[in-house]
Amino acid sequence: MAAILQITDVNKSFGGLRALWDVNLTVEEGTVHAIIGPNGAGKSTLLNCLVGRLKPDTGSVTFEGRPIIGLPPHRINQLGIARVFQTPEIFEDLTLLDNVLIPAMAKEDGAFRLNAWQRVTRRRALIEEAEHILEDVGLADQRHRIAAALSRGDKRRLELAMCLIQKPKLLLLDEPTAGMSRADTNNTIELLKKIGEKGITKIIIEHDMHVVFSLAHRISVLARGTFIADGTPDEIKGDPKVQEAYLGGAHL
Ligand SMILES: Nc1ncnc2c1ncn2[C@@H]1O[C@H](COP(=O)(O)OP(=O)(O)OP(=O)(O)O)[C@@H](O)[C@H]1O
Ligand SMILES: [Mg+2]
Repeated sequence: MAAILQITDVNKSFGGLRALWDVNLTVEEGTVHAIIGPNGAGKSTLLNCLVGRLKPDTGSVTFEGRPIIGLPPHRINQLGIARVFQTPEIFEDLTLLDNVLIPAMAKEDGAFRLNAWQRVTRRRALIEEAEHILEDVGLADQRHRIAAALSRGDKRRLELAMCLIQKPKLLLLDEPTAGMSRADTNNTIELLKKIGEKGITKIIIEHDMHVVFSLAHRISVLARGTFIADGTPDEIKGDPKVQEAYLGGAHL
């Protein structure tokens, strides 16, 4: 299998705090790669470095062999990396359908060159696609509701739909089931499995071990800014270093 993402010797400090220390990670194409670790380990900081929201102090990140550090977030997004944030970032005042159409239209490069008739046809096709994706995430019957009215679980599903319409090659999920009920969490696991069938590579940050072990092919454990273990779910479960990192925190 080929590496889709390669992180090499990444360091990031906030003032005197070293949030990432010599971080190295390879993510294979088509896999679900979980990053777990205690609160404050640096997981979100690492994701922010991958999407261009933060710039590492040193180190390199390549996506499909191409260096991405220093590129602005929209450029990284155009290359095929999409992200679901720890707190959902949706347009609360708009309908679900409009929420999904916005990233789709933003991606329409050069559409302004189309003539009026082509624009109408294109818009119709996009709406159809958006409706399909809302169907995939189980929100089709709510498509004309205002997003603010959704439950927390449904907002996350909406955000996922907004990512999927961009047809990413790599999807980054920062705690996709945080704050969800067990039933919603299980629905999300099923949904993420379904997306997996489409061959999208995923990096998932998650505290809920039920989610991690249901989805991940590979798990890397981040503690105090550096990876302390990496392996298959079975290898990670039995790793004493991992148990130690979690002492007093989550349980495996
Ligand atoms: N913008 C920032 N400025 C200063 N310090 C920050 C900033 N972002 C993160 N940190 C610090 O960097 C460390 C890593 O934070 P990060 O949010 O990456 O952890 P995390 O593993 O995502 O934690 P959690 O599981 O709670 O989401 C923490 O000590 C945090 O306080
Ligand atoms: Mg975080």
